[in-house]
Amino acid sequence: MTHNEQLMEKIISLCKTRGFIFQAGELYGGLSGIYDYGPLGSLLKNNIKNLFIKKFVEERRDTYLLDSAIVMGEDALTASGHVGTFVDPLTTDTATGKDYRADHLLEEAGVDPEGMSSEEMSQTIKDNNIVSPEGNQLSSVREFNLMLKTQLGSSSDSSSTAYLRPETAQGIFINYKNIMDSMHPKLPFGVAQIGKAYRNEITPRNFIFRLRELEQMEIEYFIHPDNWKAQFEYWKDEMLEWAEMIGLDMNKLHEVEIGEEDRAHYSERTIDFEFDYPFGQKELYGLAYRGDYDLKKHAGASKTKLQFTDPIKNETFVPHVIEPSLGLDRTILAILVSAYTEDEIDGNTRSYLKLNPAVAPYTIAVSPLVKNKEHIVKKANDVFGMLKAEFGNVAWDDNGNVGKRYRRQDEIGTPFCVVIDYDTLEEGHTDFGTVSVRHRDTAEQERVAIIELNNYFTNKLTR
Ligand code: GAP
Repeated sequence: MTHNEQLMEKIISLCKTRGFIFQAGELYGGLSGIYDYGPLGSLLKNNIKNLFIKKFVEERRDTYLLDSAIVMGEDALTASGHVGTFVDPLTTDTATGKDYRADHLLEEAGVDPEGMSSEEMSQTIKDNNIVSPEGNQLSSVREFNLMLKTQLGSSSDSSSTAYLRPETAQGIFINYKNIMDSMHPKLPFGVAQIGKAYRNEITPRNFIFRLRELEQMEIEYFIHPDNWKAQFEYWKDEMLEWAEMIGLDMNKLHEVEIGEEDRAHYSERTIDFEFDYPFGQKELYGLAYRGDYDLKKHAGASKTKLQFTDPIKNETFVPHVIEPSLGLDRTILAILVSAYTEDEIDGNTRSYLKLNPAVAPYTIAVSPLVKNKEHIVKKANDVFGMLKAEFGNVAWDDNGNVGKRYRRQDEIGTPFCVVIDYDTLEEGHTDFGTVSVRHRDTAEQERVAIIELNNYFTNKLTR
């Protein structure tokens, strides 16, 4: 096994054993490409979502938050182009019946599939004698629509066909008029949305990288078309600032300009932010200039004007859109890859998550040194209550001995451990004693007065 394969195994195992991420439906054999976030994974995810809302909605005066429905009607997704063109090339192992992404098999065989039609892929597979990973012949290539289809209500006529949205973006576009009529924004303005999206990926893989149920954080930023170049650059910088803010290893992040032939049908310019995952450099985020494609399509199909009128210039036009699109699950994987660290302490290997405190599930863990001394436990409880009231995500940990607690908290990325010990007791009343504060990254400890703790951590923890 290579170093990178081992790293991936360690991260997956840590996620399961420490309650970050579980395979969905594991009790019944598991669902492929779908995962549940456990207690710590949910806290990590929530911290990221809250930071996104803080940075891109609360700290701005030009962006609104939206929470649109996951189920979308066929008419809207036909207009957006998803019913017709949201497809991947599918080929089947003729002996086992297993399905594969034809473009992935071509790439693995050293052929660039970009821009090829299904027929061209079929022909290339034949010409190059490309076989399935099991060594069997492959079927001809056909287009497979990735959307998950469902039926609303009891009737099964086509008017009740609906889909689980393949991206959060479309919920924003179909609410453009509602937002204009209710909020009366001036241009430029943005609408941000965080939510689940569904893609029936042919071959989900690499843990939470390619999922069938995923979560996206997207912004549709509506602009005057004349400003698109400057706005594109601005949002590129915002995305880089975001990546740094959540603690991604910036040396692993790459900006890749997507050529015309490889861009989505709606995009006039796209940059992918790719990240060095252990399984290779792959897409983390996208930044696309979508022009007026979506609003024009929905306006045409719904026969509704989706425009903006500039009252000063007396100009009416369809706004253009810059779209920063951030996958939440891929963000979590990139954060875990950036944070996973091994070092040596007292001759023993230690693994820990060097998480930015802003995203760590717990910022502080509080422990009594021993469990059988009532006074120590009581003081520890007082300190725990005080810190929890101030900082929220504070853990109580009295399992095993203090050394084991440090290891456990290191592994889940808790930046600080506070221990109430005999010295605290000897120093008198809770407010006047000192506690031991241990730092995750250096494993060093210092004494801090209980009365100073809130200030001390306020300075260290910036969310
Ligand atoms: N609205 C634009 C859009 O959805 P996309 O490139 O298809 O564009 C945006 O997806 C982001 O969503 C990606 O950069 C990635 O972070 C995430 N994403 C897409 N497909 C995914 C999948 N199958 N599993 C996990 N994340 C995915």
